[in-house]
Amino acid sequence: MSPKFVPFELERWQSTWENRVRFNLSESGVHPLTIQELLGLAGASALPLLEVRLGYSQSNGTDRLRERIAALYPGASPDQVLVTTGSSEANFVTCWRLLEPGDKVAVMMPNYMQTAGLTQNFGAEVRPFQLHEKEGWEPYAEEIRTAIASGTKLVVITNPHNPTGHVLGDAARKVILERAAEVGAWILADEVYQGAELSGKTTESFWGSGYNKVVIVNGLSKAYGLPGLRIGWIVSQPGFTQEAWARHDYTTIGPSGAPDRACAVAAVAVAVGLGPAGWGGSVRPGPGGSCRSVVVSASTPVECIASRIGSGSPAGAGWPAGAGAAGVWAGWPAVTGAAAGPGAGVGVAVGVGVGAGPARPAAGGWPPATE
Ligand SMILES: Cc1ncc(COP(=O)(O)O)c(C=O)c1O
Repeated sequence: MSPKFVPFELERWQSTWENRVRFNLSESGVHPLTIQELLGLAGASALPLLEVRLGYSQSNGTDRLRERIAALYPGASPDQVLVTTGSSEANFVTCWRLLEPGDKVAVMMPNYMQTAGLTQNFGAEVRPFQLHEKEGWEPYAEEIRTAIASGTKLVVITNPHNPTGHVLGDAARKVILERAAEVGAWILADEVYQGAELSGKTTESFWGSGYNKVVIVNGLSKAYGLPGLRIGWIVSQPGFTQEAWARHDYTTIGPSGAPDRACAVAAVAVAVGLGPAGWGGSVRPGPGGSCRSVVVSASTPVECIASRIGSGSPAGAGWPAGAGAAGVWAGWPAVTGAAAGPGAGVGVAVGVGVGAGPARPAAGGWPPATE
């Protein structure tokens, strides 16, 4: 491995352990649906799925799926959508398209560290701006302005935020947009947690901001509980999307064929909330919607896990202020023997996902049997 390469430690650690432990405190999305549950929500039969030919999908995503995704973003056309293999590939091709060695990138911290690592691996210089726990996870305007220095090429934000679940306040959003416009920076808005808000209010997309150097990244892995489909997307101005597609030709060629084509038989189309009338419910959360009910009910397993690993309650009493979406920031003084974050052993806060909600029992059932 090149000495300069920045490894994605969190992802490697998580993927090494997440399927091998009894208590997974690292889950970063809503507990995944089974195909049967998805079809049930869609009110769709499994039969057409069995007829999906396992060929290559259209490399930028089928027309139908891109139409459905574009409809989520007012004014966007299907040509402005690139379907990717998860939102992680969307982040990758965005950084690849935009960054050259020496570029300055402002990154919100803490964060899902993919873009922070990637930007360094593309030779860029990362300038962080912090979310502050004592401010309910809001950033300071001055720190945003400093991080988005003159000449900054890219600003990376995750909203709703991983790992705190925080949704940026209007004032901070405005400062980020104004400062990016002042210096001519692109904004990569990773909105993969949009739709998983505890409040029931869907976070406003940066798409609606009016600033046109914006790349929206989203996908079906978190709020929709469908990470195994590996469907993500980019929405941006037409020129950017076409250039990102040219990069995508070199990465995975196209999205996984079966999930993309599954859109043609209703399941994914319904997952993005736009299934035609008669297809029944939506995975997309809403009052009583499945995702949100899992998110809200997750406080029980979080507290239960805390007591079972012998640390009492999470410091900050389970749900800290600022837990806005699927993801909480809970702290334990020190944790061993559980799949908590890399920081756990040194006694700092860890991100806790909400994957083990009682609505969908994890392997072994929930609550776990008394030992
Ligand atoms: C903020 C954020 N973006 C992107 C991803 C990648 O998700 P996927 O590639 O499954 O869509 C994750 C995964 O945890 C994430 O937390």
